[in-house]
Amino acid sequence: MKFKPANNIQDLQYFGEFGGVNPSISDSSTYTFLEAKTMFDTFEGNTDGCYLYSRHTSPSNLYLGEALAAMEGTESANVAGSGMGAITPTLLQLCGAGDHIVSSRTIYGGTYAFLKNFTPRMNIQTTFVDITKLDVVEAAITENTKVIYCESVSNPLLEVADIRGLAAIAKRHNLKLVVDNTFSPLSISPAQLGADVVIHSLTKFINGSSDTMGGVVCGTSEFVTSLKSVIDGASMLLGASMDSLRSSSILKNMRTLHIRMKQHSKNATYLANKFENDGLKTVYPGLASHPSHEIFKSMMNEEYGFGGMLTIDVGSLDKANALMELMQERNLGYLAVSLGFYKTLFSAPGTSTSSEIPEDEQAEMGLTDGLIRFSIGLDDDIERTYEMMKACMVELDILQPELA
Ligand SMILES: Cc1ncc(COP(=O)(O)O)c(C=O)c1O
Repeated sequence: MKFKPANNIQDLQYFGEFGGVNPSISDSSTYTFLEAKTMFDTFEGNTDGCYLYSRHTSPSNLYLGEALAAMEGTESANVAGSGMGAITPTLLQLCGAGDHIVSSRTIYGGTYAFLKNFTPRMNIQTTFVDITKLDVVEAAITENTKVIYCESVSNPLLEVADIRGLAAIAKRHNLKLVVDNTFSPLSISPAQLGADVVIHSLTKFINGSSDTMGGVVCGTSEFVTSLKSVIDGASMLLGASMDSLRSSSILKNMRTLHIRMKQHSKNATYLANKFENDGLKTVYPGLASHPSHEIFKSMMNEEYGFGGMLTIDVGSLDKANALMELMQERNLGYLAVSLGFYKTLFSAPGTSTSSEIPEDEQAEMGLTDGLIRFSIGLDDDIERTYEMMKACMVELDILQPELA
């Protein structure tokens, strides 16, 4: 049967404490026990439905986790205070001193910095590879490898991982495949394609309001429980927990995610086609010219489209900066990092979100100075937006005016 992630979210039914249509918010950091023995059992992880302390979990966080697990089709999920608060404990739970990770080389700059600069302190080594080349991924595996790590659609180059292919490799070598699905919620369901763990930064499309941070780890109940263990759980012990007020607001925003993703995808598809026709170097997984267009198509839940992220290359950093400033001045969006907002957001990744990556490595992976990353907004009139963007590009000599 076809996997329908938005139905899974829609089908959740909650009643609040007083019969409210939203679950009640658990506005407490700590919880009482009528019997001391129950407190002991809860510490040991032996009681269902009892809450101990909100760094461990809270009813509100469980509701949001349940919705995210339903969306990804995993047994369970644990929410965190940010995307990095989900990524770092996951990797530290799966790897210890002496272990090795094979990671895509095009990933979010913060994750790259964690793997490149931070985990070596704990003697966890990472080999960065071109994730689109399955033979290269497999060749990088050593006897110490524990994890293959990638993003479904990578930040910022929009490379697409062949999740089925990677899952087969992971299975053959008894490794865990961890996929960050932040760029493609609903469109791609990595766990349905064989991923063991699916991560999101909720800060982006899932919350969609650019008003909070958040993260989630979706996986088996066994893995999620291990993350929360009071004895040795990386999420519990590192403490990047989400606040209940925030998880309740993210849950409410999630209910419109399917509508938003369709509109982000529709608008990004329109602009990508126009920009490409205008002769701009445009990268968007929905374009036939994208090297992994067919792979994306083979993995996607069609109705949500190819996502809201696209890049163009305008040739130089000076031109990129001038264009972004002019587009902001004309109220076409904001010159800001992050993604998934109702307005378009744009940034030059080489000098912002990927600046953790040294310049020579940026060049090697094709991250050029003139690259602008767009998170396309929910504009109702995308033709108007296009005409205004094009006018900015003509004004700055990035595009030539059309001859009358
Ligand atoms: C793909 C991806 N994963 C993870 C993160 C980190 O998420 P957060 O900023 O919520 O910690 C980001 C942030 O930009 C991202 O783009």
